[in-house]
Amino acid sequence: MTMRWLTVMLLSMTTAMAAHGSVTKASFGTTPDGTAVDVYTLKSDTVEARITNYGARIVSIKTADKNGKVADVVLGYDTLAGYLADTAYFGAVVGRYGNRIAHGEFKLDGKTYHLPINNGGNSLHGGTTGFDKHVWKAREVPEGVELTLVSKDGDQGYPGTLTAHVRYTLHHNALRIDYSASTDKDTVVNLTNHSYFNLGGIGSGTILNDEIMIAADKYTPADVGLIPTGELAPVEGTPMDFRKATVIGKRIHDNFEQLKIAGGYDQNWVLRGSNGEIKTAARVHDPVSGRVLTVTTTEPGVQFYTGNFLDGTLHGPGGVAYGKNTGLCLETQHFPDSPNHPSFPTTELKPGQSRHSTTTFTFSTEK
Ligand code: BGC
Repeated sequence: MTMRWLTVMLLSMTTAMAAHGSVTKASFGTTPDGTAVDVYTLKSDTVEARITNYGARIVSIKTADKNGKVADVVLGYDTLAGYLADTAYFGAVVGRYGNRIAHGEFKLDGKTYHLPINNGGNSLHGGTTGFDKHVWKAREVPEGVELTLVSKDGDQGYPGTLTAHVRYTLHHNALRIDYSASTDKDTVVNLTNHSYFNLGGIGSGTILNDEIMIAADKYTPADVGLIPTGELAPVEGTPMDFRKATVIGKRIHDNFEQLKIAGGYDQNWVLRGSNGEIKTAARVHDPVSGRVLTVTTTEPGVQFYTGNFLDGTLHGPGGVAYGKNTGLCLETQHFPDSPNHPSFPTTELKPGQSRHSTTTFTFSTEK
């Protein structure tokens, strides 16, 4: 009897059954300094998503293709060791400032702040020890998990103690991410998720045959260091035009400066609609599996990145090598280097304010 009660209690502590799904927690190992890391499995009627509190990362998303065959559609590793050694931000929440800040420098309230330079001459994804490399606090919530990180005043050079919450919830075929952040001093913040999707399933080849639609009339052209020039350029008449669904590989090798600089697509698109309102950002369709990913967001921009820097040195479950273009990222965000571009939507956050944003990844199939 006692054993039965103990089992029941343990189960109810680790499993929260919600109306449409379940959340289960398991150990994912420990970091070299002995911090315990967990993995949460969110299950709905059609999708299983695994989230770890190491870097608030999406570990896997399993969903069926048009014939009912289930596969994992995000690049990841099967062990914590893989994530500890990761150099490509697989599945991670990047912050405090996702994407680049030119020369690792910005001015706020008349003071210049210096950030770690970790990408060419610039600061990328929050610095050398960004939010992707922290163990976040986690708590189960209905249909999901909420992760919390307190980044101290001066962390990676950024001012103000920033408290960030990222909540993943799975409802039927939609994985929703709610971000919120508050600070005790003026600061800048730009949080996004860096998952690499391969709708054919990891190990199925490149994403170059997928079709993508991006709901944007303009993009922010970048210099050789991938820092926006400040211009909002029309996509019309360029290989950046994805207003109609187009095969990704069709124009990726065109003689177009932006593609040459990045070795493929790696720019920020200016989404139609208002900053702060939920709208469709992009839709990806893999004609072979029939899987479709629809991304909606309240953010004003999206970085469409075709995994140009993956070179086969990182390996996933079963030893699969992640080569060039084997995954694509749709990083919903404020524009790169906004702190140095007053004309861009602001990323500044003041004490007493709370920054919220929402992004959803919805999975479906099409014959
Ligand atoms: C950037 C790429 C970078 C990648 C790192 C993306 O957000 O735009 O340039 O290489 O992150 O994995």
